[in-house]
Amino acid sequence: MKDILTAPFLREMMRMTSNMYAHGWDERNGGNISLLLDEDEVSEYLDTQCVIKDIPTGFEAEELEGKCFLVTATGSYFKNIEYDPAKNLGIVKIADKGKTAKLLWGYRNGGSFTSEFPAHMMSHAARLSVDPANRVILHCHPDNILAMTYVHSLDEREFTRTLWRMETECVVVFPEGIGVLPWMVCGTNEIGQATAEKMKTSRLVVWAQHGIYGAGKDLDDAFGLIETVEKAAGIYLKIAHLPILNTITDEDMRLLEKRFGVKAREGYLD
Ligand code: 13P
Ligand code: ZN
Repeated sequence: MKDILTAPFLREMMRMTSNMYAHGWDERNGGNISLLLDEDEVSEYLDTQCVIKDIPTGFEAEELEGKCFLVTATGSYFKNIEYDPAKNLGIVKIADKGKTAKLLWGYRNGGSFTSEFPAHMMSHAARLSVDPANRVILHCHPDNILAMTYVHSLDEREFTRTLWRMETECVVVFPEGIGVLPWMVCGTNEIGQATAEKMKTSRLVVWAQHGIYGAGKDLDDAFGLIETVEKAAGIYLKIAHLPILNTITDEDMRLLEKRFGVKAREGYLD
């Protein structure tokens, strides 16, 4: 067996959590990540039949049966993950129609997966149903996105259109737009189901007054989506109170659609 601390998926996760902390998106234990692993790759480092303990999930997700995930621990500080991955991360295999997560590695000292496990697993199932290449669900608390949810309408079309107008690249990076949930209690199956529903049509879901979820084929992909939205939200907050003299028009965005071969969400451009 190879040393798991050298596994590329673990190294990337450690690098990503430190980077997100450096961005200021993950204060204290804020944020959580789940990464779908290839069991053959995991087998190079672990005996996947050797289970440390069964952890009940409190929900069903039949589609994920047999899949392995690397998941941040509840209460873990992103700034510390790289220094103690075996405490702050875990590898689980989903069993029993999603009702059980079998711990294969990690969560040392009796830890467990993130309190947002329902939102992560239900979102994985939703994304995989429309995009079999999806591997990552990533949640964090970026300042500008959060701030924007206090002062902007939460109507998804309006929220998306404002973001698209804040930077030329936006409509190219997330042409499907952004899902927005009103404030809800976090860490519940209900917010998990609501997030997953939005994930069927968008890789980005904002939780008003809380943060954002991004999905992607790898960590960079999900991170890049959130990075783009966060930058656009920052520009919005810089200019929202000023007289706007120039903007990106719907006609401009149609030109971008043509140039970059993307299609803005139906009905979102006038
Ligand atoms: P966890 O520490 O359980 O991952 O929770 C952090 C968080 O961001 C809750 O939404
Ligand atoms: Zn959160």
